[in-house]
Amino acid sequence: MSKNIILIGPMGAGKSTIGLLLADVIGCEFRDSDKEVEDKAGANIPWIFDVEGESGFREREFQAIEYLTSEKNIVIATGGGAVIRKENRDLLSKYGCIVYLKTSVEQQLLRTHKDANRPLLQQDDPKKVLTQLLKQREPLYIELADLIVDTNANTPKQIVEKIT
Ligand code: S3P
Repeated sequence: MSKNIILIGPMGAGKSTIGLLLADVIGCEFRDSDKEVEDKAGANIPWIFDVEGESGFREREFQAIEYLTSEKNIVIATGGGAVIRKENRDLLSKYGCIVYLKTSVEQQLLRTHKDANRPLLQQDDPKKVLTQLLKQREPLYIELADLIVDTNANTPKQIVEKIT
């Protein structure tokens, strides 16, 4: 199988955990678009949101995706909002097999609880934010996906087995 695999889905879907495991199983490199953005900027995501706003972060995210999709045989985990931009969707769908890691808002909340590295969740009501974002973005995740895997009903090992 092709090793160009992209994981999409909301914050707390488990993209990094699954991505690392998957890359290990199929024997290729794992890359994360958020980490790519941070390495290039020499700053973390909260700093980028503070100083450059969400639009500055989205521009950096686009550049990271452009760069990552020019590489071969990697498993790429994307940030939850990467699908918003059409250019990103076009690049990702040309790159390889897109897996949507579907998860419930409750699970997202558990996995992102008090995570200071996610600026969009630094508000009084993260559940409301996650619910709204999922409502807006889920049609895009579904439209892009070649495969949808439920991360609530499966262990990381089972998820990787379904993908490979
Ligand atoms: C975001 C998700 C984050 C990160 C940024 C914005 C979003 O990535 O890109 O905080 O818009 O949903 P994860 O999905 O890896 O948490």
